[in-house]
Amino acid sequence: MSYPYQITSFEQYQADYQKSVEDPEGFWGNVAENFEWRKKWDKVLEWNFTEPRIEWFKGAKLNITENCIDRHLSTMADKPAIIWEPNNPEERVRVVTYQRLHKRVCQVAQMLTNNGVKKGDRVCIYMGMVPELAYAVLGCARIGAIHSVVFGGFSAQSIADRLYDAQAAFIITCDGAYRGDKVIPLKSVIDDALIGNRTIKKVIVYTRTRTPVSMIKGRDIWWEDEMEHAEHQIEKDGKVSFPAAEMDAEDPLFILYTSGSTGKPKGVVHSTAGYMLWTNYTFVNVFQYKPGDIHFCTADIGWITGHSYIVYGPLSAGATSLMFEGIPTWPDAGRFWDIVEKHKVNCLYTAPTAIRSLMSFGTNPIQGKDLSSLKVIGTVGEPINEEAWHWYDENIGKKRCPIVDTWWQTETGACLISNLAGVTPAIPSWASLPMPGVQPILVDENGNENTTADEHGIIKGNLCIKAPWPGILRTTYGDHERCRTNYFDTYPGLYFTGDGALKDAKGNYRITGRVDDVLNISGHRIGTAEVENAINMHSGVVESAVVGYPHDIKGQGIYAFVIYNGHHNEESLTRQDINLTVSKIIGPIAKPDKIQFVTGLPKTRSGKIMRRILRKIAEGETVNLGDTTTLLDPAVVEEIKNGRV
Ligand code: PRX
Repeated sequence: MSYPYQITSFEQYQADYQKSVEDPEGFWGNVAENFEWRKKWDKVLEWNFTEPRIEWFKGAKLNITENCIDRHLSTMADKPAIIWEPNNPEERVRVVTYQRLHKRVCQVAQMLTNNGVKKGDRVCIYMGMVPELAYAVLGCARIGAIHSVVFGGFSAQSIADRLYDAQAAFIITCDGAYRGDKVIPLKSVIDDALIGNRTIKKVIVYTRTRTPVSMIKGRDIWWEDEMEHAEHQIEKDGKVSFPAAEMDAEDPLFILYTSGSTGKPKGVVHSTAGYMLWTNYTFVNVFQYKPGDIHFCTADIGWITGHSYIVYGPLSAGATSLMFEGIPTWPDAGRFWDIVEKHKVNCLYTAPTAIRSLMSFGTNPIQGKDLSSLKVIGTVGEPINEEAWHWYDENIGKKRCPIVDTWWQTETGACLISNLAGVTPAIPSWASLPMPGVQPILVDENGNENTTADEHGIIKGNLCIKAPWPGILRTTYGDHERCRTNYFDTYPGLYFTGDGALKDAKGNYRITGRVDDVLNISGHRIGTAEVENAINMHSGVVESAVVGYPHDIKGQGIYAFVIYNGHHNEESLTRQDINLTVSKIIGPIAKPDKIQFVTGLPKTRSGKIMRRILRKIAEGETVNLGDTTTLLDPAVVEEIKNGRV
């Protein structure tokens, strides 16, 4: 496969960027010529950010799985599409060729159809990192069902909320999932999520861990039985086929829930054609993918990174995508490097939190590992500190692999700001330049563009984007108004990212972190309001306030200030009870790292919690707390300062 739109020099980047801004329709229309369409578009782009309404390739018809699979079959049927590395290194690796992937996806499509799933239905997928998860995602896309993958670390309550919000009628899950030396009982979590649920018609269960499960007659069915039945149906005259549904360019492809600054996670909706183009274009350009390369993205498909850079981006480019079931530190902290050596990985894409965690084991786990196959290494999910950047550069990339620092969000579908490996310069801790089609702008609180640089030539501001790129979210599921107020209303006419950024004189961007009440814990977004709601569910909790604080490995940790007047007064036990409550309501990822019991919270006279002060205290600042004169009761600050944990 060739990629005529791959940028190969800095001059070409500049020229393409220019073209993409001056004539977006011409530019993206040209890129789109490289895909398979049942019918071409009437209009490349129509948009306004007021409603918002964004339509790319209006009138076009396609199926994304034909682009990710069928079109490769004539030339690459035997090429590995997915290489699966199991949690336990002693277990057999699975190599899924494009031919095999085609068959499995057709089978899933048939299985879903047999069970009553139709175009437009929402299917919740709650699985571990097994190839069947990729088949499930693509099987949904083949029949036009909307997948909503929920990360395996979310609790039953979180699943129940998501099922309700998406009005899902079908679930695909596993008996359990392996994670290092642990087994996560996924089906049992689903059972808890379904207590009292009346909308779910079928739960399809794939056997991975042989964890005992309850199977409810008429509702719960085995993946293996259903797939075997489907296999006979899709095989005719020695050929395998399941006709892909014809989708509109703007038909929703999937929902993925993510946290915002208000209580409940929102269902970010991506549509078909724009998302396909954007993941493919950024995959090919940021990582400079060359046919035959092995791409290893360490994310979980439960997050956007896995959707875009394990499944849709690589497969639409006919690439080989390595999928890993385990964790970086089991059986030991050399796991990633063993995988790189074993599979001769060419591109490794991971998160700063993983790098920092592996850094803490020193360089012993790297000794003797052959990492010479690596050509490009990348990071995503949070700002990468310079120390981690240099460690990655020296020990993993051996100073010969460009590092791509890719900034993007669930809502943006794929990378918006990143250097292109070896083509545009890498600068430690800077995401650097915008992708073609992306027009960033830094604004002040009132939405006015910041143009004044400091003495180092740096401009600061809140990061917004002026115009749509193909992969921008289209709505939040079931609540378009929420999409408008969250992203398009703060600064009218602009998409607001929620991040702060710096810009240098050459136009490079450095992302400084969230400017709203969203935390970034190990590269995962968690809203403070969401955690507070969960803590407040504990029967003894009167009120709580949650802020982030710098954490060596996670980037940010969760610090909770809690007013408690419950029954038990033994602090360590109460802390555990609160943690368990948060685990049950959201999932273990949202458990506070620190809980401080307080008798009051710093509030303004109008009752607003002054988080700025709490943030400073959590960070260890006890002197310069800023203006505290508007506080209702300044004495409470002294008490909190003295009780830091
Ligand atoms: O704050 C930014 C941070 O992660 C947020 C998006 O989180 P999520 O939707 O979960 O997607 C993560 C994977 C794309 C952003 O608002 N972020 C992501 N990448 C970077 C980053 N911050 C700094 N540098 C990055 N490269």
